Amino acid sequence: MLERLVLKNVGPAPKMDLDLQRRMNLITGDNGLGKSFLLDVAWWALTRKWPRDLNPRLTSGYPARPTDRTSPARLRFALTTDAGNSQTFESSYSVRDESWTGRPGRPHSPGPVIYAHADGGFSVWDPARNYWKKRGNVDVQDRLPGYVFSPQDVWKGLDVPIDGRSTKVCKGLLDDWSSWIRENGESARRMSEVVGALSVRSEPWDVGPILRLSVDDAQDVPSIRTEYSDAVPIVHASSAIRRITGLAYMLVWSWSEHVRAAEQLNLRTAGQVILLFDEIEAHLHPRWQRTIVPAILKVMDRLTNADTGVQLIAATHSPLVLASVEPHFDDERDRLFHLEIRDGEVHLDIVPWAAQGDVLGWLVSNVFGLRQARSIEAERAIDAAQACMLGKRLENPEGLRGRDQIHEALRRVLPGNDPFWPGWIVWSERNGSRQ
Ligand SMILES: Nc1ncnc2c1ncn2[C@@H]1O[C@H](COP(=O)(O)OP(=O)(O)O)[C@@H](O)[C@H]1O
Ligand SMILES: [Mg+2]
Repeated sequence: MLERLVLKNVGPAPKMDLDLQRRMNLITGDNGLGKSFLLDVAWWALTRKWPRDLNPRLTSGYPARPTDRTSPARLRFALTTDAGNSQTFESSYSVRDESWTGRPGRPHSPGPVIYAHADGGFSVWDPARNYWKKRGNVDVQDRLPGYVFSPQDVWKGLDVPIDGRSTKVCKGLLDDWSSWIRENGESARRMSEVVGALSVRSEPWDVGPILRLSVDDAQDVPSIRTEYSDAVPIVHASSAIRRITGLAYMLVWSWSEHVRAAEQLNLRTAGQVILLFDEIEAHLHPRWQRTIVPAILKVMDRLTNADTGVQLIAATHSPLVLASVEPHFDDERDRLFHLEIRDGEVHLDIVPWAAQGDVLGWLVSNVFGLRQARSIEAERAIDAAQACMLGKRLENPEGLRGRDQIHEALRRVLPGNDPFWPGWIVWSERNGSRQ
């Protein structure tokens, strides 16, 4: 697992210290404070490559640049080896070479790393398939440094240049899933099981016939059965279903290829898997947001061996994701992080775990920092009403003055069953005189 990541003079904060737990790590915070950036750096620490360097079609995952080029920039990280020891590594930025220095050779992660980007792309690194073979003076063929998929590559396959020739290193979801369905073997069953477990129905998916979208297009397209159709081509499915299918495919592909490569090379399969997940709720309806994190943890447990440790590091903007993990959160294995601006600087804090009970509770907690889970107009009318009840004068943008004006504003913006009404009405009746 990745134990710790310390950044100095790089990214949005002068210093960041991400001290991780061994199972679930959730990172929250406003837009632009560095959640995706931290995941990029975590990927780099584990694999020694920046995603964008391996696939120029990516629109994120650029190499980290120092904030102030005149002072030293450092990335330090610690991870647990397969033997269970903790190892620390340090890299500093060389301005002259425009790159991060470090010990050459094999990347350090003992297990596969799967990074789900926010836009539907994925980066996969596999200790059995992606490393540099340099032993002393022996010149051994380099292997691929990693698999970085743009959203399009996940579906249509990934081609990378090897020895100057474009080579298909992954066939992609459409071709692979179609042939798994035709073979009707272990892979088809596993794919259907994983997609089922990740979706709200939590039963193996009913796969429809393999289709062609037009006479001129030879691309096979798997289809799914829904409540209203026997064959929705997967490329026509909603973005939520495509996100889930893409994720299921990447998990099944990464793990089964890892197992296959390990067998071929006579290695043991990895004892740990690290999942990096950006905006884990992307595209998902609340019903799906509520199940995604527990489902991923369950799927990984089922997909891998019983003793494979799975570490999840995920960025989220969803109060429902936080509400959904309340029954599972365990202080010994899980941690919540929050990025926020204080005194003009970005700070990364560990949030002491406190269940909030529901989405509303999370929205108005420090983690999301909304004062109210209502419209801005309703929040302002209530602020004015509360000031009025306390006998305070409040400058408000709407210029609301006095009880009657405030009452009118409340009527405009609050529904009849809003819990604010009873207190306001009782107060108004007791203080009947016009203000
Ligand atoms: N490659 C990079 N090198 C240095 N800083 C970066 C890099 N990429 C992003 N950042 C920093 O991170 C900020 C964007 O953060 P980001 O991770 O996209 O936010 P979030 O995911 O929390 O919305 C940028 O304003 C910049 O300060
Ligand atoms: Mg982001």
